[in-house]
Amino acid sequence: MKSTQSKLTAWLGMPLAFLAVTILQSCGGNDGNNKNNAVSDDVASAVYVPPGEHDELYSFLSGGFNGQVSVYGLPSGRLLKVIPVFSQFPENGYGYNEETKPMLMTSHGFVPWDDLHHPKLSRADGMADGRWLFVNGNNTPRVARIDLRTFETVEIMEIPNSAGNHCSPYPTNNGEYVLAGTRFSVPLDLEKGGMGDASLDEYKDKFRGSISFIKVDKENGDMDLDFQILVPGFDYDLANGGKGPSNDWVFFTTYNTEKAGTLKELGASQNDKDYLAAINWKLAAKYAAEGKAHEMPANYYHNKLDHGTHQAKSTLKKKVRYLLPEECPGMMYLIPAPKSPHGIDVDPTGEYMVVNGKLASSLPVFSFSKMQKAIENKDFDGEVNGIPVFKYEAVLHGEVKEPGLGPLHTEFDNKGNGYSTMFVSSEVVKWSLKDLQVKDRLPVYYSPGHLVIPGGDTREPYGKYLVVMNKITKDRYLPTGPELVHSAQLIDISGDKMRMLLDFPTLAEPHYAQAIPADKVAPNSVKFHKLDENRHPDAVKSEKDVSVTRQGKTVKINMTSIRSHFAPDNIEGIQVGDTVIFHVTNLEQDWDVPHGFAVMGANNAETLIMPGATQSLRWVPKQAGVYPFYCTDFCSALHQEMQGYVRVSPR
Ligand code: CUA
Repeated sequence: MKSTQSKLTAWLGMPLAFLAVTILQSCGGNDGNNKNNAVSDDVASAVYVPPGEHDELYSFLSGGFNGQVSVYGLPSGRLLKVIPVFSQFPENGYGYNEETKPMLMTSHGFVPWDDLHHPKLSRADGMADGRWLFVNGNNTPRVARIDLRTFETVEIMEIPNSAGNHCSPYPTNNGEYVLAGTRFSVPLDLEKGGMGDASLDEYKDKFRGSISFIKVDKENGDMDLDFQILVPGFDYDLANGGKGPSNDWVFFTTYNTEKAGTLKELGASQNDKDYLAAINWKLAAKYAAEGKAHEMPANYYHNKLDHGTHQAKSTLKKKVRYLLPEECPGMMYLIPAPKSPHGIDVDPTGEYMVVNGKLASSLPVFSFSKMQKAIENKDFDGEVNGIPVFKYEAVLHGEVKEPGLGPLHTEFDNKGNGYSTMFVSSEVVKWSLKDLQVKDRLPVYYSPGHLVIPGGDTREPYGKYLVVMNKITKDRYLPTGPELVHSAQLIDISGDKMRMLLDFPTLAEPHYAQAIPADKVAPNSVKFHKLDENRHPDAVKSEKDVSVTRQGKTVKINMTSIRSHFAPDNIEGIQVGDTVIFHVTNLEQDWDVPHGFAVMGANNAETLIMPGATQSLRWVPKQAGVYPFYCTDFCSALHQEMQGYVRVSPR
């Protein structure tokens, strides 16, 4: 055991490239899917979607450090759309135009770039309902909601008392809450609010984490930060909730339970075991409703896109309520889990909680019914900050035998199997929940992080496919210099043996994905915004109503675009140093006819206006001249002629 562990530790310290190659060589080419093998016709036809036909599923892959979500069709692996969330997006002007800039407002100011990790579909009765997609901003803690009727970000909630919003978001099974857990613990000042000043030597006493409970309106999806639980100062890694019998519970993996702060100098990751934190979210909500919550000052923004005006508004919130676990008996427990566990995944029945023991290379499976018994019998082994710690054996169902090296994440099919990614041994491992025996292994290229099975985190997985998101690409595609695209692989899981179907490149770094049958989303997709429902204060609904109005040094140009001209298209009366605001309404009432708008030299130069919508660009010209503007999106045979001029005279 000891030698296996030290071998593993040595491996983990190796450069990844070397590691991947070593493991591939040691696999001895047993995969049958390596790139030199001819792809059989049935594999090709399994992913072939003929021209004009649609994919069976939508998949939503996080963009990681590009702050966006990318939408792919499955099984084809075709990229359908990029949805900007936490980052400005030059394609459609998100975060550049005046309507969407407020979406990126935070208590730290305008933050136009973030690290987006985990998409989670909204749920009803434990199943993805196809209405919304929730995603987390990891760096500057935020949770966003994407409306799947328009595939646009409609709401962003900043999370106070959090740092590295990693175990987030987790939507409860009936859409009551979206939960968000902090990664880093930070010194919280409960009197003045926000972060206090403390040295890392004071970590044990002063640092705390938080789990946020964001209430979600059942009708329109609006988010509201209801309360937080201030939890012991560990690092919280990933979250997933129960189903069926465990519906009221949510689980968080933790590390740094030494409360050391950092790995290198201060000695995190010394303990043999960290914890899986189990929180009864329903009881927490009850405690909060019954007046157990305290209140503290806070500073965080809630940004929302108004449906009618299509303008985002930022609201600064000044207070947050919080619960302390030590004051709320029965709300929180700790389960010992192998050293630095990563993913936590609950099987479709809700009975088994699978912890992916990254550093220990073990996959312990905990039993929810045993946990209930252990609570009844008070089968505890001490406590941390007043939170009871279970005895490991009292809640353990069993451990998967020899799963592989570096387990990170698990999802489930509809036949009682778990599928786990092995980061170090670069493989997906299929195992049975019944006897915890490994059934199949498939090498993947290389070093997988997350994987997703359509519905694999719900009560009733759709199964059929598995998409594994690999961290290292190396030689899978034509080389493109030092920076390579990340890579996903589509695997057929319908038979006893897994079958590799497809490699497809991804955008930036997908950390997780969700997938859903297309018929749950496609029928609701909006084709264009209705012009007569456009309540934007500067919307112009007919060419005869266009206007250029000056107020002091601000000039407002309320204009229209329709195939294939702007109105007005010859604008005069602007002087150097004026603030010019173009409010452009796209008068089209047809699907797939956006118009672009770009002005030479303007810093927020371009935007893309959907049919029926109004968008605005702000421009302060610095030099006199006659500046062309034009449509940037090919819209008709006269697209090239869709242009105009703004004359800027010396002051
Ligand atoms: Cu309008 Cu091109």
